[in-house]
Amino acid sequence: MEPASCPNLTKHEGKVSYKDRCRNLNQPGLVIWFTGLSGSGKSTIAVELEYRLLKQNKAVYRLDGDNIRYGLNNDLGFSETDRFENLRRIAEVAALIKDAGLIVLVGSISPYRQMRDFARQKVGGDNFVEVFVRAAIETCAIRDPKGLYDKAKKGEIKDFTGISAPYEEPLNPEIIIDTDQLTINESVDLVWEYLENKLTLEVEK
Ligand code: ADX
Repeated sequence: MEPASCPNLTKHEGKVSYKDRCRNLNQPGLVIWFTGLSGSGKSTIAVELEYRLLKQNKAVYRLDGDNIRYGLNNDLGFSETDRFENLRRIAEVAALIKDAGLIVLVGSISPYRQMRDFARQKVGGDNFVEVFVRAAIETCAIRDPKGLYDKAKKGEIKDFTGISAPYEEPLNPEIIIDTDQLTINESVDLVWEYLENKLTLEVEK
């Protein structure tokens, strides 16, 4: 559909389709979307999974919430409106990279269900895998790798997820990883097992 703010557009089809690209790469395009509190382990798991996939000759790319805020999203803060815009852009970029035939690993708090549902719908349900990286907020606050929980509790950061801003837990994620209980390797294994099936099924389609 034409965007209301930008009329008089025409979509141009190329000679190369998504399926063509997937055949060349011998893989489907996928978006693996890691959601969870700050400090739950999203980035750590995504980094290890990216490395494993690369070693299996998969074309993979990681989009990390923190990193994207250094560039594309450096005009956005942490209000509800800004977070929605942050996620809208990440979802659009992830959908494009997936369309290029890659496996995209998104690591972003993405605290609202509506945001994640938007991303799922943008990418297309079969190619979207929601991973809830779950850890008690007490655990995240003890880990506090960036010292942010400490600052948030002192009131030095406002709208901090889990402290002074909401986190809506996923209701039906494809995968739940309890990082309170699992090692990093065990966490990556969980996603890996799920992906092994998914990659075969999607390529055979
Ligand atoms: S999201 O809510 O919009 O999805 P995103 O994943 O992009 O968040 O960014 C989260 C990262 O920003 C955190 O890992 C943390 O390093 C940093 N950060 C800075 N301020 C906040 C805040 N108020 N709430 C949560 N994270 C914050």
